[in-house]
Amino acid sequence: MIGTPRVHHRVTDSTNERAKELADAGAPHGTLVTADEQSAGRGRQGRAWTAPPGSAVLMSLVLRDLDERHALLPLAAALAVCEAVGSDPAPMVKWPNDVWIDRRKVAGILIEGRPQEGWAVLGIGVNVTTEAFPPELAELATSLRLAGYETTPVRLLPALLSALDRWIGAPPGAVLDTWRSRDALRGERVRWADGEGIADGIDDSGALRVRTDDGPVTLDAGEVHLLR
Ligand code: BTN
Repeated sequence: MIGTPRVHHRVTDSTNERAKELADAGAPHGTLVTADEQSAGRGRQGRAWTAPPGSAVLMSLVLRDLDERHALLPLAAALAVCEAVGSDPAPMVKWPNDVWIDRRKVAGILIEGRPQEGWAVLGIGVNVTTEAFPPELAELATSLRLAGYETTPVRLLPALLSALDRWIGAPPGAVLDTWRSRDALRGERVRWADGEGIADGIDDSGALRVRTDDGPVTLDAGEVHLLR
């Protein structure tokens, strides 16, 4: 079972940073780093990730020997978050690996690592008890509490670890089918750095298909934005 050994910090700069140090020093598969607070939490695309102290699950896992499961890890991790959260209201996945409730982001995932050395760090942040977001995020972000869930970071973590254990080892077909059933963008108009179109699901490699006026496009990395 993943989650052992575990190191918990009251405050650290980034749990991903701590987990990368541990991985580099030989920490085993499943090593978990958690924190109540991060002073320099990182998001994808060089963004910051912030959360009030004690309000979020802030965790990073050392994963080793992922083999062919590595390619779908971002999708599998997002499914684990959805499953751990519950079903009312239903969490959805926003390509590639955000978790949304009510079309607002409730969780983000940052995978970093050294595939050539056989390890990756899976970092997950889930907004759990946050009561309010700054005005610039109010339309884009939410927390489980704001969505009507009554859980806490301490209660959510074991459910999340057990869901991760199942989804990281799941067959690719199951990951793809379940991800498709939770796809928040399918049929929606999206924009990315080089274009705009209608999201049309994912292919078997996990890449996003988009229908544009100039024909189909496949995006295998980067960020897309929902045109609201
Ligand atoms: C994103 O949506 O941009 C990814 C956010 C990932 C945030 C988590 S919080 C725990 C771990 N430590 C970090 O510094 N980042 C990840």
